[in-house]
Amino acid sequence: MMAAFPPLLPPAPRLLLLLTVAAGWVGKEPAAFAAATAGDPAPPGKIAVIGGGIGGSSVAHFLQQHFGPQVQLDVYEKDTVGGRLSTVTVNKQQYESGGASIHALSLHMQDFVKLLGLKHRREVAGKSAIFNGEQFVLEETDWYLLNLFRLWWHYGMSFLRLQMWVEEVMEKFMRIYKYQAHGYSFSRLEVLLHSLGGDTFVNMTQRTVAESLLEVGVTQRFIDDVIVAILRAGYGQSVLVPAFAGAMSIAGAQGNMWAVEGGNKMVCSGLLRLTKANIIQATVTAISLHNSEGKTFYQVHYEDEEGQGSSFYDIVVIATQLHDSKNNITFQNFDPPIAEFPGVFHTTVTSIVHGYLNSSYFGFPDPKLFPFASVLTTDTPALFFNSMDNICPVNISGVFRRKQPQEAAVWRVHSQRPLDKPELKILFRSYYSVQVTEWQAYPDYESAKTLPPIILHNNLYYLNSVEWAAGSMEMAAVAAKNVALLAYNYWYHDLEKIDQKDLMHKVKTEL
Ligand SMILES: Cc1cc2nc3c(=O)[nH]c(=O)nc-3n(C[C@H](O)[C@H](O)[C@H](O)COP(=O)(O)OP(=O)(O)OC[C@H]3O[C@@H](n4cnc5c(N)ncnc54)[C@H](O)[C@@H]3O)c2cc1C
Ligand SMILES: *[C@@H]1O[C@H](CO)[C@@H](O)[C@H](O)[C@H]1NC(C)=O
Ligand SMILES: *[C@@H]1O[C@H](CO)[C@@H](O)[C@H](O)[C@H]1NC(C)=O
Ligand SMILES: *[C@@H]1O[C@H](CO)[C@@H](O)[C@H](O)[C@H]1NC(C)=O
Ligand SMILES: *[C@@H]1O[C@H](CO)[C@@H](O)[C@H](O)[C@H]1NC(C)=O
Repeated sequence: MMAAFPPLLPPAPRLLLLLTVAAGWVGKEPAAFAAATAGDPAPPGKIAVIGGGIGGSSVAHFLQQHFGPQVQLDVYEKDTVGGRLSTVTVNKQQYESGGASIHALSLHMQDFVKLLGLKHRREVAGKSAIFNGEQFVLEETDWYLLNLFRLWWHYGMSFLRLQMWVEEVMEKFMRIYKYQAHGYSFSRLEVLLHSLGGDTFVNMTQRTVAESLLEVGVTQRFIDDVIVAILRAGYGQSVLVPAFAGAMSIAGAQGNMWAVEGGNKMVCSGLLRLTKANIIQATVTAISLHNSEGKTFYQVHYEDEEGQGSSFYDIVVIATQLHDSKNNITFQNFDPPIAEFPGVFHTTVTSIVHGYLNSSYFGFPDPKLFPFASVLTTDTPALFFNSMDNICPVNISGVFRRKQPQEAAVWRVHSQRPLDKPELKILFRSYYSVQVTEWQAYPDYESAKTLPPIILHNNLYYLNSVEWAAGSMEMAAVAAKNVALLAYNYWYHDLEKIDQKDLMHKVKTEL
């Protein structure tokens, strides 16, 4: 996930095997969702999705897959489809300014790309290194064996233990695809995590990644030098993020990342086009509950260019953050009232800079000799940025080559706050343009200690609660599939498919 950190070791063969096995599951499902038979409740008439990011667009797709094409789907988007997946243009080429890279084992994202006839964008090889404000503390070389040797020399067993820990988490996490292919859904994140990895997984949302790694024998030194840098580049946060989110970020740093040719946001627009959902360009301001003739309806109130309006729905999915005061959606007539969501979001500033790197700052007076495409950083007060990458456009033709370090290139710098002119002048000898986006990128993982609910009311769902376990495109897609299944299973009273225990066993015997 997160900022690409090229592979220090190739992926373990076991993970590759897992990929092939798990890939077989995806796409096997429709039979499990035969059309509703007589005696079942009538299908829902209208469903609203609030938010047109990857969460909202994938839930629209999955809802339609399960409920069928006759259900009317309205997707409210106040800004642009894609949300935190977005590009900026430099010299007529687009570059990812938000969510950039996708892990090879992201099976829903893989599926979407296939379904939409999109292409994977290959990763152009480039080396990375970790900078501590004065010098590089860890450098990747051209020599795989030398990398291995260096890591071994510096960190002994820590690296191996880290690999094993991450691999175990990923292997357990991948169970979700099997469960979902069999139609199983979860009403709370804790239950979902428990079904994948037992108490250990639930605990991993409550303890820090540093604690968990120390426990499996990773040294403090390795954490300070390497893990800190990975989490700063990924979440822009410290090793105090919860272990589950941390593991997902570290998995992304192992390499094997890809992106969507033409831009990741194309998945969102593609899925919405495929579902033929009505995209309503409006800001949702409130959701109110109405009961009539024993049925429950949700009235979605919105504001658009022409003023205020509202519509009634059987099912509503909120696919944006709720705790974020910017989103301001109020809930009316709910008894008991829908509680406030604690926590705040972490700001990540993306600066896309077209210019000449000041390699002297990194200890390379001759720019031609600067060997790195990615610079990660340790936690040092003197450092005013988290990471920087020499990035490729979203469309790469066959002849593309990365710019040489002495040439003007496009760099993506992530920082906690906007860079001022003097700071830009430190990183770049000179530049043509700077485009700044201030994101509410991820939850500030230390700001809330409990996971928010998925179900806010009978047929009112909160997709983005998942980000408090871990935020990424694939986590949004996993949550979207879960919400679509949950909505379907509740609507047709198929309670067997909700919060079932012992799924590993059930899924095996159902084969
Ligand atoms: C700088 C950065 C780097 C990242 N890097 C990666 C990465 O490498 N890999 C990865 O997997 N993830 C990455 N992420 C995270 C990833 O982008 C997000 O987890 C994911 O895109 C979230 O999608 P979403 O649909 O849940 O939310 P969003 O994309 O935030 O979508 C919510 C949508 O709802 C709309 N909306 C909000 N309120 C309302 C309202 N009241 N009415 C109507 N519409 C509303 C918003 O305009 C928005 O379009 C990164 C994020 C950032 C910011
Ligand atoms: C999870 O945490 C609880 C309380 O902190 C602890 O009692 C339990 O042993 C932990 N379980 C695992 C599997 O780590
Ligand atoms: C970029 O790639 C996308 C997806 O393959 C394609 O639709 C688009 O036309 C391409 N754009 C350019 C400028 O090549
Ligand atoms: C949030 O709601 C308050 C009170 O209704 C309003 O004053 C404010 O402008 C809203 N903020 C946004 C960003 O819509
Ligand atoms: C580049 O880095 C050097 C060394 O840190 C610094 O002295 C110089 O001011 C920086 N900026 C430019 C434009 O050279």
